[in-house]
Amino acid sequence: MTTPTTNAVGAPIASDAHSQTVGPDGAIALTDHYLVEKLAHFNRERVPERVVHAKGGGAFGTFVATHDVSQYTRAALFQQGVETDMLARFSTVAGEQGSPDTWRDPRGFALKFYTSEGNYDLVGNNTPVFFIRDGIKFPDFIHSQKRLPGSNLRDNDMQWDFWTNSPESAHQVTWLMGDRGLPKSWRFMDGFGSHTYQWINAEGERFWVKYHFKSNQGNDYLPQAEADQLAGSDADHHIRDLYEAIEREEHPSWSLHVQVMPYEDAKTYRFNPFDLTKVWPHADYPLIPVGTMTLNRNPENYFAEIEQAAFSPANFVPGIAASPDKMLQARIFSYADAHRYRIGVNHTELPVNRAQAEVNSYHKDGSMRYGFRPASAPVYAPNSFGGPAADAAAAGDEAGWQNDGELVRVAHTLHPEDDDFGQPGTLYREVFTDAERERMIANVTGHVGATRIPEIRARAIQYWKNVDAELGARVEAGLAPIDEPRTVLAGEPVPEPVGAK
Ligand code: HEM
Repeated sequence: MTTPTTNAVGAPIASDAHSQTVGPDGAIALTDHYLVEKLAHFNRERVPERVVHAKGGGAFGTFVATHDVSQYTRAALFQQGVETDMLARFSTVAGEQGSPDTWRDPRGFALKFYTSEGNYDLVGNNTPVFFIRDGIKFPDFIHSQKRLPGSNLRDNDMQWDFWTNSPESAHQVTWLMGDRGLPKSWRFMDGFGSHTYQWINAEGERFWVKYHFKSNQGNDYLPQAEADQLAGSDADHHIRDLYEAIEREEHPSWSLHVQVMPYEDAKTYRFNPFDLTKVWPHADYPLIPVGTMTLNRNPENYFAEIEQAAFSPANFVPGIAASPDKMLQARIFSYADAHRYRIGVNHTELPVNRAQAEVNSYHKDGSMRYGFRPASAPVYAPNSFGGPAADAAAAGDEAGWQNDGELVRVAHTLHPEDDDFGQPGTLYREVFTDAERERMIANVTGHVGATRIPEIRARAIQYWKNVDAELGARVEAGLAPIDEPRTVLAGEPVPEPVGAK
């Protein structure tokens, strides 16, 4: 017998085809509460998409610690031989839910490890650096990469205006205009924690670390023309690639390595080691192998397990902590705030976000709460009835470093090599191959070529000359004159702030 359809609370319903009406052609009766439930539930099928990284896909897997790094961290998941269940979500940044997977963009590389000591999230990208070094710029940066308010079109003038006014972006934009801006698929890209994090060992010694996930499939890219074609013919190309590879049991894997900087080195290093626009040269801090992550299980339900997945850079476990990186500190606030808005205050109770470790917090109630402790358990701390008690010893696992000084709003000034253009120049000249340089110049020229405001275009040319004189000259030489120059982003010049109306 066919399973009967029920309403949301289990009672059988008579029809999924015919509403209840007064006579065959009459008005619909409000007594058809199933019709109302069906339409109302449908209207609520979406949660707000992520404000960035809205388009993505992911899979579950396992992380195995294959090497001994216990001298640097006591984190349970990184002890040799330990296997930890995990989830990965990959994404583009600026595009919306339905946007093509093959737009040029950094790719998100978000990982959730369900460790025995609580969930550890590492929310990184496929690039080791970022566009800005202070989180206060992030909303402006994203506004410049998304859409104009009037036409709702993305706009190259807006993008280059922000980048050229924020020269610290040069390193990341160099990566973006190179092959990494268009990976062949998520399986063929590396991942980075990007920030500097703190590791703490069993003796309480502290180190600074950077994470590198090297793709065991190798690195490969899409030529711009192929990416453009795929954007139209198969907008979900990267979601499909990952899903189908796992269905075929070709399980992609990545080898985790870390760079470790002794705690004291940070004070005298030649540039600020907490500046997210910089990499640490491997000659200074070589890669140390840690383990392997393998993705081997597709989600059964995209919405429940990927759309509602909530990754937060604030989710640390003992032995891993934050650093003085200002971007990281802004992110520590931002993500859980986004999750409370996007999914709800009890998003941590959803199966995909729930810890495998025991959760013993005094958080209580809130929208959609269903987990609770026994009625006899106290709901406040401190209490006299044996409820969970904070462990002062855990302070040793919290982020810690020496601070002193006035409250100020300035960039750091301590390190001699803190310039914006040195590392992108090295990347262009010494890391890229000849072929990569050629492709990058073509990409930059194409992208800058779509600007129409002469001052912004001139700044973009100078930006690339600052990275490398010959690169800038070649970009300049490759640009056709602006067809229809404009002076403002859209419409007429704005005479006064719009909000004043
Ligand atoms: C997603 C904020 C910088 C990687 C998000 C989301 C927010 C956000 C609000 C959406 C979260 C959600 O709704 O679940 C910020 C802020 C930043 C920043 C304020 C700077 C201060 C970065 C950096 C990286 C990064 C530097 C990489 C190194 C990601 C990734 C996602 C994401 C991978 C998608 C996570 C997922 O798959 O669910 N970001 N972000 N973000 N961000 Fe950032």
